[in-house]
Amino acid sequence: MEIHGGNIYKLQREGRKDILDYSSNINPLGVPESLKKAVLENFLLLERYPDIDYTELREKIGKYNNIPAENIIVGNGATEVLFLYMKALKPKKVLIAAPTFAEYERALKNIDCIIDFFQMKEENNFVLDKENFMKKAAEYDLAVICNPNNPTGKFILKENIFEINEYLEKSNTKLFIDECFIEFIKGWEDKTAAGFKSENIFILRALTKFFALPGLRLGYGIVFNKKIREEINNIREPWSVNAFADLAGKVILNDEEYIKNTEKWIAEEREWFTKELKKFENNKIIKVYETETNFILIKLYNKTAEEFKNMMTEKNILVRNASNFKFLDKSFVRLAIKDRDKNEKVIKAMKEVLK
Ligand SMILES: Cc1ncc(COP(=O)(O)O)c(C=O)c1O
Repeated sequence: MEIHGGNIYKLQREGRKDILDYSSNINPLGVPESLKKAVLENFLLLERYPDIDYTELREKIGKYNNIPAENIIVGNGATEVLFLYMKALKPKKVLIAAPTFAEYERALKNIDCIIDFFQMKEENNFVLDKENFMKKAAEYDLAVICNPNNPTGKFILKENIFEINEYLEKSNTKLFIDECFIEFIKGWEDKTAAGFKSENIFILRALTKFFALPGLRLGYGIVFNKKIREEINNIREPWSVNAFADLAGKVILNDEEYIKNTEKWIAEEREWFTKELKKFENNKIIKVYETETNFILIKLYNKTAEEFKNMMTEKNILVRNASNFKFLDKSFVRLAIKDRDKNEKVIKAMKEVLK
């Protein structure tokens, strides 16, 4: 699957070791200590089915978001929740704001549906043109927005989401908002669209990114629409969230120290990494698209993304060639933001590769 980052396995099969993976956007603080301890202490969960209703897990997630547990749907990663929503809603016509994450399109290809894209333009720094988006989206059954957006790192303010939603409600166009990276934004609790409690909106969240659990798989949806919730529960497979993922959700959302450390790391490193990348921009080597989250999109002026990727791979750094995102050309690359030590290595390697 070349549409995603994170495929270090191919490089490992080729005999490479100690690869720095800058192609997937996972918290570099790694698995929370609280979870490591809980897994060791609860190893025998392996012998039991998890709670088929995930009652306690949904309560914990609800509390974390200040929302009743009945409005939470859990899944095996955010991806499962996304696919379930599309299958439950069965829209006939969907508009996706792009460039963006590829799985919306794949989830929709599973159902019989027309998929169109609304371009967020490079000349606008990939900021969504709200007025034109909502006017166009009103002709569709469903509009999809990733917020903050992968791969551009741009974030749409809550006030604008509110306006888009009010407009779309009139044409009975549902709004799907992927907030899987929102917790990397300072003060996200006041910036999420979850606070609207709108029956028209479905919000997707992940624990895989912020809590560094992509291998464990845990995601959830926030849904105030009873009909959609019931339909998802009708079609979902039982026990798709395994016992350790269930345990993880109950433990890590209370891990205030981990959350605080993560917030401190991302605020510092986003600023430092952006500042260092901007030095290349000042020398007209790359363009930097400022980010609000934990990855950053750049455009190369003197090399293709594939050439750059291959040269960085030679230095054991895996970057995401972003040219296969819709509306991006072969000059775009997405870089994760990690800890200072690793970010310094990447900047050093870039100096050698782009000199
Ligand atoms: C924007 C976005 N949403 C959702 C997902 C899926 O997350 P998960 O690993 O929890 O399925 C990803 C993964 O890369 C993503 O980038």
